[in-house]
Amino acid sequence: MKTLLFNIKELLQIRDEGIQKVAGADMKELPAIKNAYLLVEDEKIIDYGSMQELTDYNADQVIDARGQIILPAWCDSHTHIVYAGNREGEFVDRINGLSYEEIAAKGGGILNSAKKLQNSTEQELFEQSSQRLQEVMQLGTGAVEIKSGYGLSPEAELKMLRVIKTLSKSYPVTIKSTFLGAHAFPALFKDDQSAYIDQICKEMIPLVAAHQLADFIDVFCEKGYFDTEQTAQILETGTRYGMRPKIHVNQFNSIGGIQVGISHNALSVDHLEVMTQDDIDSLKHTEVMPVALPSCSYFLSIPYTPARTMIDQGLPLALATDFNPGSTPSGNMNFVVATACIKMKITPEEAINAATINGAYAMGLSSSHGSITKGKFANLIITKDIPSYNFIPYAFGSNVIDKVMIKGTFI
Ligand code: NIG
Ligand code: FE
Repeated sequence: MKTLLFNIKELLQIRDEGIQKVAGADMKELPAIKNAYLLVEDEKIIDYGSMQELTDYNADQVIDARGQIILPAWCDSHTHIVYAGNREGEFVDRINGLSYEEIAAKGGGILNSAKKLQNSTEQELFEQSSQRLQEVMQLGTGAVEIKSGYGLSPEAELKMLRVIKTLSKSYPVTIKSTFLGAHAFPALFKDDQSAYIDQICKEMIPLVAAHQLADFIDVFCEKGYFDTEQTAQILETGTRYGMRPKIHVNQFNSIGGIQVGISHNALSVDHLEVMTQDDIDSLKHTEVMPVALPSCSYFLSIPYTPARTMIDQGLPLALATDFNPGSTPSGNMNFVVATACIKMKITPEEAINAATINGAYAMGLSSSHGSITKGKFANLIITKDIPSYNFIPYAFGSNVIDKVMIKGTFI
């Protein structure tokens, strides 16, 4: 099955095969062809170029994209899409003055979601999560990472991971799975943290690996959650079982989580709302992708990742949603891209690089996703008739997407 898209106003993010990520000043470049065509065969991009070079209009499906911009679908490298119920009560508590940490300290937060999840069947969880996944696909997401971490017991963590696997079999979107048993200490282990670390390392990680349920290992490394020593122990065990680290660090405090991530060969370090110059320096000359989650900063009214400073100092950056019931009940990558431009002062080119090729890198997917490259999946956002790509973050409250293609099929 061949699909030809022609008269494309601008085809964005055209990259050579070898480009895995972009960093520093290179993030300002967004290679593009104006007045372009794009040819898709089955699931893949097979050709593209300028309209002058197009001689053969033969295809099963021919689409005139006059006025429309085409870019790679978003690559959302950090989400918690699988969860049960919502926490809008805590949202109101925060409006009334409680902080995220205070709500967690009185049994709300992650433990509140864990209770709801433990009481849900696998089927209920699948249905709720499917709805969220379908929504984000419509919003232009073509690849997504999903974490466990609301189970906090061997059975419930495995249930979450099985739901992630079923989602990946049920939808065309590419899904990467992360084991986040170390998201919070369950009430049962409040006074014996080392017993929970043992359960994670000796019971959960081996089970998850035996059932091939996770690509990555994550820890919420933060004051009141997991300290750097506990984090290191879990990352070491995860790595031994074939899961590469991708971790939550520096959301509220800088406690050395970035350095633990770097020394354990993390693929990414995520959140980074609170960064010291030392933290930024540590990331230089490493292969670790820093990931910012601006919708989380927006929703919790916490600082934004100092993305401008980080990119100016030569670092790469990826953007992701953090879609979860507590700190970010939104999986809208368009809002993330706009908020990054508006609040972090990064340019539309930098934000689009961060949300496509660098997001793909942060999931280990940059050889197949995140750019317009021959042989990569035809995961595309086709915008409405808009004046320029700057309009995508500028019109932050509008849906500028006309169609989304995932693996060669319009959804
Ligand atoms: O990435 N920070 C840790 N975990 C999630 C939020 C968890 C929750 O509040 O349910 C996050 O923001
Ligand atoms: Fe998160």
